[in-house]
Amino acid sequence: MRLTPEERKQKFFYATEDAEIYDYTVEITQPYFYLMHETMMKLIDFWFQDKNTEITILDIGSGTGIEALKLLNIFPKIKIIAVDFSEPMNTIFRKKMTLKYSKSYINNTISIICEDFLCDSFHPLEALSKISNKSEFDIAMTAFVFQHFGKEEKLKAYRKVFKSLDKNGLFINCDIFGYNNRSIHSYSDNYCLNYLIDQLTVPNINLRECFKKIKERVGDMDKYRKQWENHWKEDNILYPLNCNKPCLSEQKLLKKAGFTDSEIIYRYWLAGIICALKS
Ligand SMILES: C[S@@+](CC[C@H](N)C(=O)[O-])C[C@H]1O[C@@H](n2cnc3c(N)ncnc32)[C@H](O)[C@@H]1O
Repeated sequence: MRLTPEERKQKFFYATEDAEIYDYTVEITQPYFYLMHETMMKLIDFWFQDKNTEITILDIGSGTGIEALKLLNIFPKIKIIAVDFSEPMNTIFRKKMTLKYSKSYINNTISIICEDFLCDSFHPLEALSKISNKSEFDIAMTAFVFQHFGKEEKLKAYRKVFKSLDKNGLFINCDIFGYNNRSIHSYSDNYCLNYLIDQLTVPNINLRECFKKIKERVGDMDKYRKQWENHWKEDNILYPLNCNKPCLSEQKLLKKAGFTDSEIIYRYWLAGIICALKS
């Protein structure tokens, strides 16, 4: 079933009213977020060993720029199209960038677009042509964005990514995914849910600062925790990463969208990173 952009936005409640504390929220709700994040960055770093050629990146659901800002550090000649339909998240991303980079560098390097990636009116390559001479993206990446997309929406997104990539392009999807085995799926789902409930109740020592910042902003932690619990139970639409049987999997969806090959490079309970090659 296709959702309206407004219905889609509601699933990202924390990216609108609570965008200011998103960086703390993601760390406290997602086990080992920074390890996943670093794995993604390491893959891109490895994939493009020549740092002196221009690389083009499509960042889908760029949020507060956690991934894009890291890439700006690694690649001096990078061009990024960052798309996110939450203006509050885009505002924080812009703020973080202006603290570090000049206006002209930002204008030449990155374009942050407030759009729904799934909308037909958003054309990634048109956006790219305004900041780069390259006509396609070398990499498309996305982190924690597609987990609420139904099958049709996911396939549409994967096809759009495929069309935007260069023939040697790489797509990296870092997200939460299901399992074929019901018991393992159920254990993983409960593990992740209990993790976020625990951290939003009595956080681990290394997450206390995040907890404090969230509490300062939201006040009522019981209400906030409940909101997260409901979101986790109701909004996730998860498919297994791979499957030998004729059921749906991410690898099959990626193949259907045109990708020739895909690899799973990270897995921790529901969390995973799958990367797909165009050819
Ligand atoms: C969980 S945040 C992830 C942000 C960032 N990628 C990260 O890893 O920290 C998900 C982001 O995706 C954005 N988003 C979700 N669906 C989208 C869509 N269809 N088009 C554009 N942005 C979308 C939300 O607004 C939100 O900022």
